[in-house]
Amino acid sequence: MDYKNLLLDVNQNIGLITINRPDKLNALNHETVVELKDVLEKLESDENIFVVIITGSGEKAFVAGADISEINKLNMLEGKKFAEFGQSVFSIIEKFEKPVIAAVNGFALGGGCELALSCHIRLASENAKFGQPEVNLGIIPGYGGTQRLTRLINSGRAAEMILTADMIDANEAFRIGLVNKVYPQSELQSSAFDMAVKIASKGQQAIRLALKAIKANDEVSLQEGQNLEATLFALCCGTEDFKEGTKAFLEKRKPVFVNK
Ligand code: COA
Repeated sequence: MDYKNLLLDVNQNIGLITINRPDKLNALNHETVVELKDVLEKLESDENIFVVIITGSGEKAFVAGADISEINKLNMLEGKKFAEFGQSVFSIIEKFEKPVIAAVNGFALGGGCELALSCHIRLASENAKFGQPEVNLGIIPGYGGTQRLTRLINSGRAAEMILTADMIDANEAFRIGLVNKVYPQSELQSSAFDMAVKIASKGQQAIRLALKAIKANDEVSLQEGQNLEATLFALCCGTEDFKEGTKAFLEKRKPVFVNK
């Protein structure tokens, strides 16, 4: 598929997806969400991709939400399909077997905040602003925001953001655990890339199994999660990277992982 609204750059096992509609502050129209689904499926099946970064084009917006010129035409049935489709694509990100980092370079509103929420790690520039302003439009978040925001921060803070539609800045997002780190705008992309390279330098079997165990936390009890962790730990013990990683430590040298 040719992408009209996305850019894809691949460098050193890192796939960089840039939402590219800067004149509309990278708002997600249907076509963009279809393209996002396609590029995610491509990157997931590409054995040379170890980590994915998602960002927005320009210095003003990550993604300023779903495209309001499209959603204002929705009837009830179309509204349900609209929300379910977006949710299904963001669930691909959440369940992605390789780490996905959001590099939030400006406004992350509505679907943009929800896109960041579906990623595994969120980094932000100092000018980033987060918000779920849907009630200003007479709707509620529809791409998972009511669920993921509540789980990531807490229900009181999530309720405040969703019910007041107020935006929070990057420092406040950091303070409440919505983002991991805040960088000057000029350093965001390189910092996200450096983090991706660091993750890509580890044994990828361990990275993917660790991610699987971490994500299970959203859905299972502590005991079920620990059972899964023990099983995935055991799987790691069967890998070549486990033998190499432990041997290299004992031999006081850097491991050479083969991702098997
Ligand atoms: N959908 C469609 N178009 C959008 C958009 C969205 N979510 N967000 C921004 N745009 C468009 C604007 O309509 C404008 O297009 P135009 O130049 O053709 O008129 C362009 O992007 C620039 O936006 P503008 O509003 O002029 O920039 P600003 O700096 O004054 O304000 C925001 C920035 C982010 C505060 C403002 O654009 C905004 O509130 N956007 C909507 C956020 C939202 O409600 N998102 C949830 C949607 S469910």
